[in-house]
Amino acid sequence: MEEILRDFERYLEDNLPQVESFHPFFNDTLQKMLLAGGKRFRPELLLSVINAYQPLLISNAFPVALGIELLHTYSLIHDDLPAMDDAELRRGETTLHTVYDEASAILAGDALNAHAFYMISIAPLRDDIKVKLVSELSYNGGIGGMVLGQAIDCYFENKTLDLDELKFLHIHKTAKLIAASLKMGGIIAGISKDKLDKLFDFGERLGLLFQVQDDIIDVTLNEDEAGKTTGNDSSKNSFVNLLGIKKAKEYRNDLRDKLKNDSSEFDKKLSNSLQKILDRFKDS
Ligand code: IPE
Ligand code: IPE
Ligand code: MG
Ligand code: MG
Ligand code: MG
Repeated sequence: MEEILRDFERYLEDNLPQVESFHPFFNDTLQKMLLAGGKRFRPELLLSVINAYQPLLISNAFPVALGIELLHTYSLIHDDLPAMDDAELRRGETTLHTVYDEASAILAGDALNAHAFYMISIAPLRDDIKVKLVSELSYNGGIGGMVLGQAIDCYFENKTLDLDELKFLHIHKTAKLIAASLKMGGIIAGISKDKLDKLFDFGERLGLLFQVQDDIIDVTLNEDEAGKTTGNDSSKNSFVNLLGIKKAKEYRNDLRDKLKNDSSEFDKKLSNSLQKILDRFKDS
């Protein structure tokens, strides 16, 4: 996977969103947060599934992997705005609204959201496959997932949710897009409906693990280590705020160990990749 991810990074750098105009820094607002890096977790998931089932389609899937990363990056730019989490650091860099202004950051997010679907539209894949991909990304990155989750996250600041509501929040704001990334890999690879459903299900639980870990990072890492503003969740419904740090870590460890066990239900190559990914959620 390392070489595939290096190739994807090169593809991203060669295919950054840009347009000619007399705006002095519009292209920079589109590109800055993409070039700042990030774990590329969602592209890695999509590409891992394709690598396991149809490796010859890897490069055809790069525009789709980039599309997911564009949508995710838009969500981060908006998440950091003063009206949402009000953060100054992201991916080791000063946030866009801090470097430029809020209008520029809002519009960069809007542009990356739309451009995600443009990238899928130009992928060298069958049209019926691309319609399915658009459907997954638009729903899980939108009202059926990330946007609904963010709406709940922001509305319920300083109002305590119960554990089931908190899971609903995390599954929507973070896990649905992660689940969709795995499923979209499966759609490109042409695997059965039954396997697609299993991948999505696994992805939802992986995404929940991811957000629990993110909540732990907010209290355990400083901003240099995390590359983003931390200690920022005091008014949030986070796993740490609801359960305390010790129980939140136990919850993470249990979920990770269950997922490691369940990953063996997938074909060997995919289950190996998933296990490696799960090993990153270490006890700490
Ligand atoms: C941060 O996402 C926001 C969450 C959904 C928790 P990532 O942790 O994937 O951020 P990058 O892409 O690595 O910067
Ligand atoms: C954001 O969750 C999830 C998104 C959809 C962007 P957080 O607000 O916890 O993400 P960070 O900690 O700022 O990266
Ligand atoms: Mg947030
Ligand atoms: Mg945030
Ligand atoms: Mg967080």
